[in-house]
Amino acid sequence: MIDDVVKLFRELDSKDIRILTGIEIGMKYFEWVPVEELFKYTRLPYSSLEYKLRKLVKNNMVIGTNQPYEGYQIYFDGYDTLALNTFVKRGSISAIGDEIGVGKESVVHEAVKEPELGLGESQGVILKFHREGRTSFKNVRRLRSHLEDKEHFSWIYAARLAAKREAEIIRELYPDVCVPKLLDNNRHALVMDVAKGTLLYRTKLHEPEWFLEEILRQVGLVYKKGYIHSDLSEYNIFVSEGGVQFIDWPQYVQTSHPHSTELLERDVSNVLKHFMRKYKIQRNLSDVLASIKSEL
Ligand SMILES: Nc1ncnc2c1ncn2[C@@H]1O[C@H](COP(=O)(O)OP(=O)(O)OP(=O)(O)O)[C@@H](O)[C@H]1O
Ligand SMILES: [Mg+2]
Repeated sequence: MIDDVVKLFRELDSKDIRILTGIEIGMKYFEWVPVEELFKYTRLPYSSLEYKLRKLVKNNMVIGTNQPYEGYQIYFDGYDTLALNTFVKRGSISAIGDEIGVGKESVVHEAVKEPELGLGESQGVILKFHREGRTSFKNVRRLRSHLEDKEHFSWIYAARLAAKREAEIIRELYPDVCVPKLLDNNRHALVMDVAKGTLLYRTKLHEPEWFLEEILRQVGLVYKKGYIHSDLSEYNIFVSEGGVQFIDWPQYVQTSHPHSTELLERDVSNVLKHFMRKYKIQRNLSDVLASIKSEL
């Protein structure tokens, strides 16, 4: 639970952070980071290292094994803590609030960012922790004895890569395409602006025709830049009085992707089906696709 992270975060000291960082670095080389490595890295006395490790295990920040040697892996909460620590140090966030979304592949929180140089008001922001690879990680406990199996801690890399991809595409598209602005990226986490309005599936639009046109126009802009969202639907589109914003980008592809035609078709079809179902607006899929492509 992330709330625990927040509470714990206040209790952690720089030595705990150093241990977590040591495990993170060690995981590049070891499946289970040997306690001797942590001893070398942290230079803490054994007794204090062992005490702190026990506490980190108890708090679900790391998991440990004794077979065939004493070793440790970082767990989600520990990894979240490292990213949070970096964001706080950089001034990207100053506080974390409620969880507002748990997706298949992420946990999303409201957070607060203090104004630069202390001028102006603090700002609400979004903090998204990627969780790709979570299912494979669930197997870790089961697979603990198979130390030669490298697969099962790939979640760190999977989640980190997804966050990097999402950060890169948002940077690339903003501000030409309507996406929330990216404020920071570290490890498997992103800080971004809060999208305006509400998710499309949650609202009843007064001017659905206008919004449909605007959504398709944005799909066209993304396509013109050489990309396809690839998970577009009423669940990833925010609508507000001023316009629309697309969120949730890690699975985007380039238009040169071998399946780009199908992916674009699926995105557009999801949108058209929603407007058909909810507003009885009918559009021809092929015509819409042709017009998106012809604007190149
Ligand atoms: N910038 C944002 N502004 C406001 N809310 C956001 C923002 N980003 C994410 N959310 C909220 O968090 C939820 C999950 O985010 P997102 O869709 O990016 O992740 P996901 O894990 O891929 O989700 P899913 O698997 O449900 O598609 C969203 O449905 C939305 O409610
Ligand atoms: Mg989503």
